[in-house]
Amino acid sequence: MPVSRTLSIIKPDATRRNLTGAINAAIEEAGLRIVGQKRIRLTRAQAEAFYAVHKERPFFADLVAFMSSGPVVVQVLEGEDAVARNRTVMGATDPAKAAPGTIRARFGESIEANSVHGSDSPENAAGEISFFFSSDEITG
Ligand code: CMP
Repeated sequence: MPVSRTLSIIKPDATRRNLTGAINAAIEEAGLRIVGQKRIRLTRAQAEAFYAVHKERPFFADLVAFMSSGPVVVQVLEGEDAVARNRTVMGATDPAKAAPGTIRARFGESIEANSVHGSDSPENAAGEISFFFSSDEITG
């Protein structure tokens, strides 16, 4: 399996509780390498643009407000089958349904405040990485 990349976001509920290190440890223990990382505060416009695919969903306004409510840590993860590997370590979107030991099962507060985001396909990963990172901010 070739090495690939995915985008991860540590969400405001997790940065607020000082969980960046614990989440990064889980990511690294899953065999993923953090090759780009920065802590930023999303504007509402950035959150709307990033989640534009969800703009017709009933939870969109709340999601945008939540994602711009505090700092996030955006990350580029690299490893074999990075998208699927990260989705496995994250667990299901709803923390109540996430497998035991996954990041969302351990740390998620609700389906919205679910601690992490991860790209859902290699195609979307490429677009999501370039949304936040220029090539000189990623070092393998
Ligand atoms: P994420 O992987 O960041 O992608 C979209 C986000 O919308 C999702 O995680 C959740 O945090 C949020 N969300 C809020 N409500 C829902 C819902 N009912 N179904 C799916 N996602 C939701």
